[in-house]
Amino acid sequence: MMVNPVSGFSKLSKSEKIDWVISNYFSGDDQARDRIMQYWNSDTELQRLHDEFIENTITNYYLPFGIAPNFLINDKLYAVPLAIEESSVVAAASKSAKFWLDRGGFRTRVLGTKKVGQVHFIFKGEHDKLKEFFRSTKDKLFIAVNSITRNMQKRGGGILDISLVDKTADLEGYYQLHARFETLDAMGANFINSCLEQFAKTLKDEALVYPAFSKDEKEIQVIMSILSNYVPECLVQAEVQCPIDDLTVIKGIRTDEFAAKFVQAIRIAEIEPYRAVTHNKGIMNGVDAVVVATGNDFRAIESCVHAYASRNGQYTSLSGAELDDGIFRFWLEIPLALGTVGGLTRLHPLVGFAHELLGNPSAPELMQIVAAVGLAQNFAALTSLVTTGIQQGHMKMHLMNILNEFKATDTEKSQLVEHFKTHTVTHSAVVKALERLRL
Ligand code: MEV
Repeated sequence: MMVNPVSGFSKLSKSEKIDWVISNYFSGDDQARDRIMQYWNSDTELQRLHDEFIENTITNYYLPFGIAPNFLINDKLYAVPLAIEESSVVAAASKSAKFWLDRGGFRTRVLGTKKVGQVHFIFKGEHDKLKEFFRSTKDKLFIAVNSITRNMQKRGGGILDISLVDKTADLEGYYQLHARFETLDAMGANFINSCLEQFAKTLKDEALVYPAFSKDEKEIQVIMSILSNYVPECLVQAEVQCPIDDLTVIKGIRTDEFAAKFVQAIRIAEIEPYRAVTHNKGIMNGVDAVVVATGNDFRAIESCVHAYASRNGQYTSLSGAELDDGIFRFWLEIPLALGTVGGLTRLHPLVGFAHELLGNPSAPELMQIVAAVGLAQNFAALTSLVTTGIQQGHMKMHLMNILNEFKATDTEKSQLVEHFKTHTVTHSAVVKALERLRL
């Protein structure tokens, strides 16, 4: 079907947008329209709220919102909200949480909460003059953002430091103002970007009147001012440990054998990037699900975490494990720039619910909860991988998706769930079993 470009799409009303989509991409099919409208909320105010989160909204996109109870973190018990579409993630988190609940729970600690932002600029003059200019202008940069930082400072946050970074060896004339921030419970993107844009303006204005600069040197060219999502100093650690003898993960599997295989699985992820990516993906199954449920920016988290996993020049495991003097120790260290105020936290009713469920945590507390869930998820994945294999549990959970795909009735579902307790789940086996039932 040939579709012509559209202009002024954003100015159309919601129903005009839907009409355009249906007539151009679905040959006017009213069933497609029904599919869109089926997900509208009958509460018009709530629907309007969601419509206005983004542009050109035509409907809502649901993700299941599940709960993993029994997370004991630093002696406090949490029921953790997870928003995710992948079967078995919530089940795995819950299973790990329960397992570690009986073994002292998760120990977590925040190693840092510093965020980063940069003004990228080009200066083609004398390096020493720029250094001296920066030294004499630095205080003015702080003063220029006073009105932006006042409230944050009152609460104990603000700008921690600003440095001038010479990147001219990599790109001609390229320098940065590299600033570090403490944004407390806010993710801080708006705060940081506002400060940076003001730094850029002050930098340019001050250069224009700096007497030691030549005419050309006065023209500092700001390329851009933006926070960095790479926050290696906004870091959290989560850990579990227990005597190796207590690692009774599955009946009939020797605890010492399990522990040794588990540690080998970690070593493999440490040295083999192909494995490390999947290993870390398993961690992110848990991390992202809580990040999404609590209204945080999972794209920022994802891009940062994987950069952090490559910080030594090779992509590696985010988690570690060791066996020492009869003790099994398993830990995770990840950068997490999270917010518990601002953004969606006040706006999205379910995000608000997620925060309340967690007891309205501070950002550092949420970092620790998220890290514990990431570790729990990794524990569940590795436990399956080094014992039964991943498919057994995975396909059991996936069974329901296949049954739903074929619109199985409740009776058919319960009969087949019973049947597949003793048979291997594969897509074709489920289809065949369903056909047999329907004969
Ligand atoms: C699947 O979503 C995640 C796993 O592949 C993680 C892993 O292999 O460690 C099971």
